[in-house]
Amino acid sequence: MLRTHTCGQLRAEDVGTEVTLCGWVDSYRDHGGGIFIDLRDRYGKTQIVFNPPDTSDEVKEFARGLRSEFVIKVTGKVAHRLEGKVNPKLETGEIELRAVELELLNKSLTPPVSPSGQDLPSEDLRLTHRYLDLRRPEMQRTLLLRARIIKTMRDYFDEHDFIDVETPVLGRSTPEGARDYLVPSRIHHGSFYALPQSPQLYKQILMVAGFDRYVQVARCFRDEDLRADRQPEFTQLDMEMSFVTADDIIGMIDGLVARVAQEVLGLEVSLPLPRMSYAEALERFGHDAPDLRFGMEIVDVSDLAAEAEFRVFSAVVDGGGRVRGINAKGAADKYSRRLIDELTDYVKQDFAAKGLAWFKVDEGGKLASPIAKNFSDELLGKIGERLDAEPGDLLLFSSDQFDVTCKVLNGLRTRLAKELKLYQEGQMHFSWVVEFPMFDFDEENKCWNAVHHPFTATVSGDEPLLESDPGKARAQAYDLVVNGSETGGGTIRIHDGEIQQQVFKLLGIDEETATERFGFLLEALKYGAPPHGGIALGIDRWVMVFGGLDNIRDCIAFPKTQRATDLMTHAPGSVDAKQLRELGIQIRRADD
Ligand code: AMO
Ligand code: AMP
Repeated sequence: MLRTHTCGQLRAEDVGTEVTLCGWVDSYRDHGGGIFIDLRDRYGKTQIVFNPPDTSDEVKEFARGLRSEFVIKVTGKVAHRLEGKVNPKLETGEIELRAVELELLNKSLTPPVSPSGQDLPSEDLRLTHRYLDLRRPEMQRTLLLRARIIKTMRDYFDEHDFIDVETPVLGRSTPEGARDYLVPSRIHHGSFYALPQSPQLYKQILMVAGFDRYVQVARCFRDEDLRADRQPEFTQLDMEMSFVTADDIIGMIDGLVARVAQEVLGLEVSLPLPRMSYAEALERFGHDAPDLRFGMEIVDVSDLAAEAEFRVFSAVVDGGGRVRGINAKGAADKYSRRLIDELTDYVKQDFAAKGLAWFKVDEGGKLASPIAKNFSDELLGKIGERLDAEPGDLLLFSSDQFDVTCKVLNGLRTRLAKELKLYQEGQMHFSWVVEFPMFDFDEENKCWNAVHHPFTATVSGDEPLLESDPGKARAQAYDLVVNGSETGGGTIRIHDGEIQQQVFKLLGIDEETATERFGFLLEALKYGAPPHGGIALGIDRWVMVFGGLDNIRDCIAFPKTQRATDLMTHAPGSVDAKQLRELGIQIRRADD
């Protein structure tokens, strides 16, 4: 090794020893008398002093030429820092290295992204020079956290007899509801591989093959609209088990959650994790991945609203809609008319709301609002009582079709909780949402869609509903929710080929297409498929929630932008004409 220690290693006990450190120049100060450098590597920072008599004039002069991000090797003696110069914020803060020898290992241009800087430059610049951005201690901590989480997961599943099996990346389309990334075949012109949206079908086949407990850290590819918590290429901890119920899978993941929370955060999580049905989650929180770090539950006042003179309320209830509200406790004086107008614009723009009705609870406990005149005192009293209104509270109502009220109130809940600081930094809440519906109806295309994926089994006893009332059929599905983020989802699978065919048919996949696309699965199900089920955890999202981050790109070493490009490598890029010819592909320009 070129070095004897790392830049995060030396302590007071090491005073007097001769050591060699290597690293990057993090900061440089020339005090005339002495030159001070913070030398940085992945492990920390150490202060280096170039000062006679320890340092010769020649070496000191050489040190004068050092700049940010130069790579150096320094040999010298560990010494106590001078009285009053101890830096308690730095793990090596008690000591410094008095330099004797200095070797320049490499120079650096002036870095456009400063690894030691406080002010973050634009994300585009960070992604373009990702190697500099990844030198930042925050990024290094996150990638370490990621590695820790993955290792803990692998250990856990290994201890529980899971077998790690790799599945192909070049395969057939796997239906997780997104668009496929396609790879053209050179040998079979006009034919394409699809990159896996998940290893779903392979892991089911592995169960038919008798592997019983499968696990894989698997890369998934989905060509969909990107958001703060979505990447086109992301990583799942994918698992599948045979001869199990939904409770068994949930129990296995409960154990994993407790283990990861304990190992990476030192947090004791009590098990079993709470569960809530999908219907209850929408009723109480307006979302199927509710943030349960705080309350502010949704309250239905449709029956009271129906009696009001206020047409915005009563007409909606008459038309089969709902009037529901939340109580932002003590928030009345924090939200001026202008801020409430901003909230109104927000729900109109983001959730297609028609408006936002609100009341402030005055000192006498009465609901006050420009719309209050449309309500009798008695009615206002009842509404207030239903929402547990106390002086100083702010009540917000959405009057619309159920799904719109869900979106509006979930949006407000999430936004207000952040603005009102209703949870602490580092607070974690884990729970399960279960009993999802099997299908939802796509009004636009007049067809049923699978809520999870088409291989999901119904709750036992709901099978006849596939025929009679598909919208009512419940799935044996479960989502793991952490702090309002869906961090995992899975189901018990259909292991009966006929039921699988029936579900395909219901989803509008005719027999021919089903055979063409999933024939191998239908075939496999005929050869003694065991009952099985599993789950996939979104590792990038685990890193987000465990690291307290709000951007998935900060959890991935080399992520894509919102426009699915890699700013460092410039992927996707053009290819040369020969490659296209070999693939039998001709590019047509938009104006051709
Ligand atoms: P699902 O599609 O719910 O299930 O995916 C499982 C988990 O993966 C994460 N995830 C994503 N993370 C980042 N970017 C994305 N674009 C993205 N899409 C999904 C989420 C999600 O909960 N085969 C099934 C699993 C199963 O049934 O066993 C599947 O892929 O955290
Ligand atoms: P309007 O009669 O349209 O001026 O609305 C009166 C008040 O009701 C305004 O504060 C609107 O923002 C609010 N409002 C209008 N439509 C809705 C709705 N669908 N849900 C909740 N409040 C609404």
